[in-house]
Amino acid sequence: MSLLFSPIMIGTMKIKNRFVNSATYEGMALETGEVTERFIKRYRTLAKGEVGLIITGMMAVKPLGRGLMYQAGIQSDDMIPGLKRLTDAVHDEGGKIAFQLAHAGRQSSKEVIGETPIGPSSAVRDPVYFFKPRAMTEGDIKETINAFATAARRAFEAGADAIQIHAAHGWLINQFLSPFFNRRKDAWGGSDENRFRFLREIILKIRETMPEGIPILVKMNANDFTPREGITPPLAARYAGWLAELKIDALEISCGTLFSYMNMCRGDVPVDEMVQGLPAWKKPVGRIVVGRLVGKYDLEEGYNLEGAKVIKPVIGNIPLILVGGLRRRAHMEEILQKNHADLISMSRPFIREPLIVKKFREGKTDTVSCVSCNRCLAGINSNLPTLCYYNGFPAAK
Ligand SMILES: Cc1cc2nc3c(=O)[nH]c(=O)nc-3n(C[C@H](O)[C@H](O)[C@H](O)COP(=O)(O)O)c2cc1C
Repeated sequence: MSLLFSPIMIGTMKIKNRFVNSATYEGMALETGEVTERFIKRYRTLAKGEVGLIITGMMAVKPLGRGLMYQAGIQSDDMIPGLKRLTDAVHDEGGKIAFQLAHAGRQSSKEVIGETPIGPSSAVRDPVYFFKPRAMTEGDIKETINAFATAARRAFEAGADAIQIHAAHGWLINQFLSPFFNRRKDAWGGSDENRFRFLREIILKIRETMPEGIPILVKMNANDFTPREGITPPLAARYAGWLAELKIDALEISCGTLFSYMNMCRGDVPVDEMVQGLPAWKKPVGRIVVGRLVGKYDLEEGYNLEGAKVIKPVIGNIPLILVGGLRRRAHMEEILQKNHADLISMSRPFIREPLIVKKFREGKTDTVSCVSCNRCLAGINSNLPTLCYYNGFPAAK
């Protein structure tokens, strides 16, 4: 019997198979963060496609934590009715849904939040927006920890089956975890223990706020690939050990930050599409900068597998979710058989083929048809909804 189609428990939550829709920004919410019918339909379709666990794209826990224009928000109780319609749609189709809770920190822009983005430290100019973030005060930190806990309570009230804390891809929690971004010398930086404190306190505060038994998942990088050392596999293993002590319910392993975003989504670098959303005066520079990336990030199947191998032994029986370039059914099966991971997570393949799990189960195909052209990723820069643009990218307005 295929392990891919055997059920698994994530804490108290039973997942019918081993497939996870990795969090994927939808670009389909309103600028206020409210979800739309189109947004809800995307998730209904994924549930129809028999995805075991659906994780939503990042939801901002605070207005200041928004990173993208059409990102969903969970920053106020006003969001709950819309989010309830979302969970109802997934549950109607027999699916399970986790909300990804996130704060962009420095990976945002004035255009989106109306002020200078914040981070653990002001060090290091942003490679995309060219500003230095404002260093967070103790008050900012406490307020943000509370915002995560309040957002988790809202997720529960909206009927989410679980939450995933976004501690990967260079977003705020990743910024605290990384010695490259976090240059603080107080209780929140200066040592691994201190850099981990922000995530630890978020988890503890969420536990205090949510009813017992709601699974808490974490997504974390095994490698940041920043210009100077950030999270590397040995540090990720150390953090993973602490996450295991905190008894989180599952850990998803990824990589990359805005300083090296193509690591996160290895594959083609579609230069024209990537720079299309830039203002005219920035395009020539953008073309040079992005052009330099071409050919350096070709897809490697299961590119986070080596990271997962370092982390799996330190987390005991906490399920490990692996994401990044997983494309062939036989390869996925082998990863589970060899116990390198417990669940298989995909993002880009589900954008193109939301029904791929069902097709796998029915034996209609053995591989996904996504070729990692990354035009879906490029769509973010032009504020487009996240769709498969392999067959054509919308012209600039
Ligand atoms: C369009 C797009 C949006 C994404 N949005 C998110 C997100 O909201 N949160 C997150 O943790 N990762 C996000 N990711 C990263 C994916 O979850 C995943 O880690 C990465 O794409 C590698 O998996 P894949 O090879 O199966 O696509 C996004 C990726 C893409 C292409």
